[in-house]
Amino acid sequence: MDFTKFYADRVVPMKGSAIREMFKRMADPEIISLAGGNPASELFPGDELSKIAGKLLMTSPTLALQYGTTDGYPKMRDCAIERAKKVNAYKDGDMALIMTGANQGIDLTAKALINKGDKIIVESPSFIGSLNAFRTYECELVGVKVEADGMNTEALEEALKNNDGVKLIYTIPTFQNPTGSTMSLEKRKKLIELANKYDVAVLEDNPYGDLRFSGEDVPTLKSLDTEGRVIYAGSFSKILSPGMRLGYIIGDPSICSKIEMLKQVNDVHTPMLTQLMCVEFMKKYDIDKYIAKNRELYGKKCAAMTEAMEKYFPAGKVKYTVPEGGIFLWCECPTITDIAPVVDKCLEKKVAIVPGNNFEIDINAPSNKFRLNYSSATIEKITEGVRRLGEVLTECL
Ligand SMILES: Cc1ncc(COP(=O)(O)O)c(C=O)c1O
Repeated sequence: MDFTKFYADRVVPMKGSAIREMFKRMADPEIISLAGGNPASELFPGDELSKIAGKLLMTSPTLALQYGTTDGYPKMRDCAIERAKKVNAYKDGDMALIMTGANQGIDLTAKALINKGDKIIVESPSFIGSLNAFRTYECELVGVKVEADGMNTEALEEALKNNDGVKLIYTIPTFQNPTGSTMSLEKRKKLIELANKYDVAVLEDNPYGDLRFSGEDVPTLKSLDTEGRVIYAGSFSKILSPGMRLGYIIGDPSICSKIEMLKQVNDVHTPMLTQLMCVEFMKKYDIDKYIAKNRELYGKKCAAMTEAMEKYFPAGKVKYTVPEGGIFLWCECPTITDIAPVVDKCLEKKVAIVPGNNFEIDINAPSNKFRLNYSSATIEKITEGVRRLGEVLTECL
């Protein structure tokens, strides 16, 4: 049977993530991927985690294999709170929920708040996973341009003024995906001021905040919020392992209690085994030391990428951001309007990059931008990948 005739309205316009589509084409081992968002697997603490998992299954099989509570294993909640406290993102009276990845927290926050036709203000461009989650609630996405120091707050105020029915501002203020940019303290204060003035909720998505390799930390939006209107999404994906699917939501109980109910419907709870593994890992090892190793490696990889870009990109033809942390770099080619032919030619040369339109609200409008990832490939592959990309850009620009 062909089910298309039965599709719900909300899934008809949905398209699979272009990045995931690209993964399918990337089965060829010769392709160098600068496209995905995977953390560096060479640093995964595989030995440590395999010993922890083995011991847990031997000594606590019931705990590890039985159903757990929806809000998360209590000690895992403590671990999430410990991480959040480091950036003042947990306040007395807040509720913390363990999520099956931050993705689930973002999706369920929208599910709890957004009716069909409501509006969500998002950064333009923004994280494809969240945009796709929001789209399934049949809301309207209102884009606000991201600059080198974060969202343009004048445009944000215009968007709030001109759009009735905005309930939520979604932002990735630190090492944004895809631009790598970080919102300045001044803009963070302004965003909170505007959220208070126009009485909207804020969803602060911060999976990359721990990955700073240069510059100074900037306070989280959650730490600047005095009215409890910021919902904070954190993740262990980029500081421990994305495959363990551990994220968290911290916020006012009036929203978190509803998210908890939605999670119960959604997946009952996050797998106990990976929660227990994370708790044991954080008990036995210093996770900050592990994160510091990641930070150091990403700093080196980012520098290798920008050095190669300086060397191989056609001079003056590509503008790009130089991030102070995180895993992405954002490039713009002002002399062309559409990057798609460049992306195709890159694949012929066996290097994968993501075209910018995928991160925009209107994914069908051509974009002259593209995203590069420097966390997952080795330094040698980054250099070779950028060399191949440089050849294509020299040919096309
Ligand atoms: C901005 C942003 N938010 C959330 C996520 C999802 O994280 P998780 O693996 O915890 O679901 C990602 C993953 O790439 C991301 O880039």
